[in-house]
Amino acid sequence: MGRLSQLSHPLVAHHLATMRDEKTSPAEFRATVNRLAMLLGVYATADLPTEPITVKTPLADCPSQKLSVRVGLVPILRAGLGLVEPLHQLIPDAEVWHLGMYRNEETAEPVSYYDKLPKRGAVDVGLVLDPMLATGGSIRSAVERLIRWGVPDIRVLSVIAAQPGLDRVQAEFPNVSIFVCAVDPSLNERQFIVPGLGDAGDRIFNTLE
Ligand code: PRP
Repeated sequence: MGRLSQLSHPLVAHHLATMRDEKTSPAEFRATVNRLAMLLGVYATADLPTEPITVKTPLADCPSQKLSVRVGLVPILRAGLGLVEPLHQLIPDAEVWHLGMYRNEETAEPVSYYDKLPKRGAVDVGLVLDPMLATGGSIRSAVERLIRWGVPDIRVLSVIAAQPGLDRVQAEFPNVSIFVCAVDPSLNERQFIVPGLGDAGDRIFNTLE
């Protein structure tokens, strides 16, 4: 069973309410995704390995630490783009490898339309970014792709997950850690998370029809 961490923090609860609210504008929605992604990022990287270095302050040598792993941010287009900037703020040297996927509206299965992962060595830690885990199909496809690339440490960062999709991902990938702000109970007949927050991609990019 993959390890699940659900953030318990008053700021997470506060911003989650804003994200869910149908009255929240796209601009505020984007800003809120950014805040929650930052909090998810802090939690999800709490055990990244570091190596000792010495830096010179203006006064003296100071024993310090720096990250000792190559980190890759792997946003699932489109909605995952909303999590890239805050994660990049936290890990400025991270590589960004986009995976383009959309859900077929009839089958709810992910359809891949962009994948330029390189042949060369995989990153040490891959952070899969997508604000929503509904059926789990998109995340499963992204995780499978990172496993094929050879990423040894895969972590999923998602704002809201639906219990059925989460169960599926956890059962299938026992070595993948999942970090979420909320777990919602169900999916509706269109495979949307309920109560959820609607379509994150459309709300981030102001493309609601
Ligand atoms: C949404 C969402 C996830 C996916 C979740 O993307 O952003 O990527 O669906 O569903 P799943 O867990 O059932 O796969 P969508 O297909 O709406 O594309 P978009 O991000 O371009 O809006």
